[in-house]
Amino acid sequence: MKIYVTDQKGENHELEAVEGWRVMEIIREYGLPIKAECGGACACATCHVYVDEDWVDKIPSMRDDEEEMLDEAFDVQDNSRLSCQLIMDESLDGLKVTLAVYPD
Ligand code: FES
Repeated sequence: MKIYVTDQKGENHELEAVEGWRVMEIIREYGLPIKAECGGACACATCHVYVDEDWVDKIPSMRDDEEEMLDEAFDVQDNSRLSCQLIMDESLDGLKVTLAVYPD
C-alpha cells in the first residue's frame, strides 16, 4: 500500500504504508515535516493535512473529537483532516494528502 504526500514546499513523496498505522505515523516515520505534538491523541491539531479532492468522499468521516480539535487548527478548509485519526487500511491505498503549514 502507498500514500502520496505533498510537503509544505510542494514536493511530492511516495510512502510505503503499513496497515493499522496512523497516516500521521507513516508521514513522521519518513521524516517529513509534521509536528504531531500529541503523538496521535487527537489533542493538538498539528498533524493537520488537506485531503486530495478525489479522496474526500472515500475516507472515513470525522468523529466529534476530531472535528472539535480541527476548530483549533490554522487555515482549516473543507478537506482538512487530522492525519492521526486516519488509520491505514486497504481502502486508503493510494491516498493523497498535503501537509498543512504551521505558524512558528
Ligand atoms: S497528532 Fe495531535 S491531533 Fe493528531
